[in-house]
Amino acid sequence: MSAVLESVEPSYRLMKLGDLDCVMSIENLAYPFPWSEAIFQDCIKVGYHCWVAELDNAIVGYAVFINAVEECHLLNLCVNPILQGRGLGRKLLSNVLGNAKDYNARCVFLEVRASNQHAVELYESEGFNEVGLRENYYPSNHGREDAVIYAKEL
Ligand SMILES: CC(C)(COP(=O)(O)OP(=O)(O)OC[C@H]1O[C@@H](n2cnc3c(N)ncnc32)[C@H](O)[C@@H]1OP(=O)(O)O)[C@@H](O)C(=O)NCCC(=O)NCCS
Repeated sequence: MSAVLESVEPSYRLMKLGDLDCVMSIENLAYPFPWSEAIFQDCIKVGYHCWVAELDNAIVGYAVFINAVEECHLLNLCVNPILQGRGLGRKLLSNVLGNAKDYNARCVFLEVRASNQHAVELYESEGFNEVGLRENYYPSNHGREDAVIYAKEL
């Protein structure tokens, strides 16, 4: 299963409002403090880059990002938990970076929970560097948690 998935490239398309049932089921499984459906609706309506990755026409992950003047801000990157650890997150991130380049972004920024080891390993292995810290930024089960700010020059 793992080897098969790693050799397959997902297809990517823009997220639609009609995808949100599926997206929310993944979001609720993947995050301890998930985004609400209203946040996704707003992101789609204001024209943020909201992409889904599909395998066999089923949504397996998604990314939400903004391409502003020469900067890309990655707001959400998520893979269905039952398919994590098989290379999909790296492929999805690569798709985001390619899109940011197409929009002439020079730098990509993101924030990640300090405890999110898998995401930190992914970002660092893709050349992101820690550039800042927002203390007590995220809610957590034990009070608040720091956000680490990462950046990658394109
Ligand atoms: C972070 C996330 C997108 C990574 O997606 P993924 O498909 O699991 O990641 P990949 O299989 O492409 O792995 C990429 C790298 O992440 C790290 N990683 C991923 N899963 C891991 C695991 N189970 N154990 C250890 N490291 C892991 C490794 O460095 C891995 O590289 P390697 O396979 O070369 O060792 C995914 O775990 C996820 O959706 N998490 C929940 C949502 C989230 O936290 N998003 C990030 C918000 S900033």
